Amino acid sequence: MIDAGAVRVFAVGSPDLAARMTGPTTALLQELVAGDAALGWVDPPSEAEVAELLGAITRGAGDGDAALLIAEVDGQLAGFGYWRRYARPTHRPHADVERVAVDPRWQGLGIGRRLMTALVQAAADSDVEVLTLDLRGDNQRAARLYESLGFKRYGLLEGFVAVGQRRYDKLFYALDLRQRPGTVSHP
Ligand SMILES: CC(C)(COP(=O)(O)OP(=O)(O)OC[C@H]1O[C@@H](n2cnc3c(N)ncnc32)[C@H](O)[C@@H]1OP(=O)(O)O)[C@@H](O)C(=O)NCCC(=O)NCCS
Repeated sequence: MIDAGAVRVFAVGSPDLAARMTGPTTALLQELVAGDAALGWVDPPSEAEVAELLGAITRGAGDGDAALLIAEVDGQLAGFGYWRRYARPTHRPHADVERVAVDPRWQGLGIGRRLMTALVQAAADSDVEVLTLDLRGDNQRAARLYESLGFKRYGLLEGFVAVGQRRYDKLFYALDLRQRPGTVSHP
């Protein structure tokens, strides 16, 4: 079992810190994608691609347009996740959780739940109204986690996710933060 005190979940607010996280984050993502994790990549991302991604998220974090959460176990990267506000002007009140990933060595021990809970809280703190996410239809572990946090499935596109010749359904989920107690309602 994991010692809860050894896990630290924190928000990355500066591009400098994001730059320092790039190496471990790239290694984590490359391992997961090589193992067929449903993270939106067919081929493992390069370090340059991950650097660009983390830089873009943390630049948005300062304006409440994004949040990047890191989980560490004994000071080592164990997982990460982020959301970004939609760019489309009519969707600006809302944000999308694009990726949540936990190191396979630390999966099933509550880290994903802690990351998601922190992401939802960060979204509420930034007055995000609706937090969306989508996932590959075979990712039952992730679906159970999101549903347990109150996300509701609002759609399904059959056979939409292409991994080589394979096709998977794409499931769409949303959490309406306007319906949470203590949050501002926008009629
Ligand atoms: C999905 C993922 C982020 C979950 O993180 P995790 O740290 O393993 O999850 P947790 O230990 O916090 O468990 C959270 C919930 O997930 C579900 N879950 C975890 N392990 C599970 C398993 N082996 N089987 C089924 N459900 C499982 C449970 O609902 C669990 O809640 P519970 O602890 O109350 O039972 C992680 O497995 C992962 O990184 N997977 C690969 C990348 C990925 O698929 N990301 C999501 C993209 S949408």
